[in-house]
Amino acid sequence: MDKIILKDSAYCIKKGTILGIKQLTESEKLFEIALEGSQRLGFEPGQFVMVSVFGAGEIPISLSSSPTNNVSFEICVRAAGKVTNALHKLKAGDVIGIRGPFGKGFPVRMLGGKDLLIIACGLGIAPLRSFIRYVFDNRKDFGKINILFGCRNPGNMLFLDEINDWKKRKDVYFESTVDCGTPDWTGKVGLITTLIPGVNIEPERTFVALVGPPAVYKPVIKELLSRNVPERQIMISLERHMKCGVGKCGHCQIQNLYCCQDGPVFNYEEIKHLKEAF
Ligand SMILES: Cc1cc2nc3c(=O)[nH]c(=O)nc-3n(C[C@H](O)[C@H](O)[C@H](O)COP(=O)(O)OP(=O)(O)OC[C@H]3O[C@@H](n4cnc5c(N)ncnc54)[C@H](O)[C@@H]3O)c2cc1C
Ligand code: FES
Repeated sequence: MDKIILKDSAYCIKKGTILGIKQLTESEKLFEIALEGSQRLGFEPGQFVMVSVFGAGEIPISLSSSPTNNVSFEICVRAAGKVTNALHKLKAGDVIGIRGPFGKGFPVRMLGGKDLLIIACGLGIAPLRSFIRYVFDNRKDFGKINILFGCRNPGNMLFLDEINDWKKRKDVYFESTVDCGTPDWTGKVGLITTLIPGVNIEPERTFVALVGPPAVYKPVIKELLSRNVPERQIMISLERHMKCGVGKCGHCQIQNLYCCQDGPVFNYEEIKHLKEAF
């Protein structure tokens, strides 16, 4: 019988070497990874990879760097359970497994010339950082850029150094808030929805990219609709339990949609009728 070769299959795990690790907050680390043999990952912002920690398991994680970096890529991982904690124990030089990239990300080519309103809540900044960095690398291709970032408290704020640079840019409107301030916090306190009225947008030419915990979606979308942003221009990334990443196991299914293949990025118009999505 002929040997079955699965070399480039979606099931084939590529070896990735951890080049560097940065502790971002108490529970989140940023990993820089290079594939064996200088292979390019090739991805779109908003896509994810299946990451294997050998002996612990495999999990979906969003790509957090810009695809414009061909040499290596980054993932930002919160220590949440078995596999993520095992990943947090690894050191630079250790090898992990990578499958993918998978899913539909943000349609960056279709967004050329449009204004963007990027809304990140908590760990939602991980995939949106990829999008933001891509947009900055190709700044002239986009119109006005607005970024809103909210998190629980100042200690949870990811990518602080970069955020301070984004704030200084003249070609970007950036605003952040925390749900609960601390005595040394001088920024805004309040839910992410409180930042939306302050953004100057032209709804017909503005596309929104929203990623955060499910609880923020309904109130944020309500606020955006009240500003007349069309439903099809609101892009949301959904998080579901995933096992295969390629539409086979059904773990990520919401009615007729597979989050791993049809998403994780959807436009609101296509999923608004799915109660389970929110
Ligand atoms: C498309 C996608 C992109 C993701 N991107 C990132 C990312 O960039 N950074 C990051 O830190 N995490 C991300 N996650 C979540 C990450 O996959 C889970 O935290 C991880 O699978 C937990 O595995 P574990 O073995 O460490 O935890 P477990 O021991 O399996 O579980 C710990 C806790 O996490 C919950 N959990 C497990 N899997 C998921 C999941 N898929 N979604 C939500 N909760 C889950 C469990 O219910 C449990 O409460 C993403 C998930 C998806 C589906
Ligand atoms: S993760 Fe298996 S079908 Fe989506």
